[in-house]
Amino acid sequence: MRSVALCLLVLVGASQSYLLQDYTLSDDEIQLMAFREQPQNAAISACQDIQFNYCQTTFNTFFGMDESISWRNGTYIFNTVQKYLMMNVTELVKVCNTRTQFYQCLGSSYYTCMNLYTLLNKPQPDFSNTFDYVRTFRGLEGMCVGGFSEVVYQWDCLGTFPTTMAYQNCINNFNQTVAANNFCPAVQQTGVCLNDAYNAACGAPAAGYFGCELFRITFDNSCWGLRCMVDGA
Ligand SMILES: *[C@@H]1O[C@H](CO)[C@@H](O)[C@H](O)[C@H]1NC(C)=O
Ligand SMILES: *[C@@H]1O[C@H](CO)[C@@H](O)[C@H](O)[C@H]1NC(C)=O
Ligand SMILES: *[C@@H]1O[C@H](CO)[C@@H](O)[C@H](O)[C@H]1NC(C)=O
Repeated sequence: MRSVALCLLVLVGASQSYLLQDYTLSDDEIQLMAFREQPQNAAISACQDIQFNYCQTTFNTFFGMDESISWRNGTYIFNTVQKYLMMNVTELVKVCNTRTQFYQCLGSSYYTCMNLYTLLNKPQPDFSNTFDYVRTFRGLEGMCVGGFSEVVYQWDCLGTFPTTMAYQNCINNFNQTVAANNFCPAVQQTGVCLNDAYNAACGAPAAGYFGCELFRITFDNSCWGLRCMVDGA
């Protein structure tokens, strides 16, 4: 059974490529993350529905997504953004510009809105859609801000790499080790695994740093103080 499942993964992976790293977390893990990223500062800007919906609608327009699409459709947004990132570098740059406009549109409420605790406290949230929503924007931040020159330079290799066994091994290991009592250590360990694997595939040290950061940034607020190391320099 196990080898059949692994073969399927390879086949599915080979048919597409993706820059945003794909993996799943259980509802329990998502809830734990949400709790860990509860905003601590009472002075922090609230996430206002009217502004949030307005900025989201503007973001949706670029991708041809219906105006009704929101954080509740996180998996759909993740897949749509992924599709545009993988078209070519020109489209990736446009996606990054669209992300910057969204960031500026939300202004001081950006990080309050892009927060699992905030969103999961709205009525009847779906956990995996909410997680996919948040990690789409965190991934875009990693890629379009810190990782921008690397992703433009190595778009092809960085986009193809997550279809390989080396990537799947890191992610499968994460899936098997992440738990409430081993959350941040599992994130850290996966960052190191991805660092080594991206370096081996696309060249040290920039590719490894990119792959580690892209993963780590999703956990920036739930695992404080984790860092990706630049090695092989
Ligand atoms: C591991 O992956 C499976 C299959 O995608 C998923 O159902 C499960 O929730 C994952 N486990 C954790 C701890 O994330
Ligand atoms: C978006 O999410 C809402 C609420 O869950 C759902 O009713 C709607 O069908 C979803 N739209 C798409 C295109 O998936
Ligand atoms: C990038 O992809 C888009 C969508 O497929 C296409 O319209 C455009 O011509 C491509 N641009 C370049 C420079 O390849």
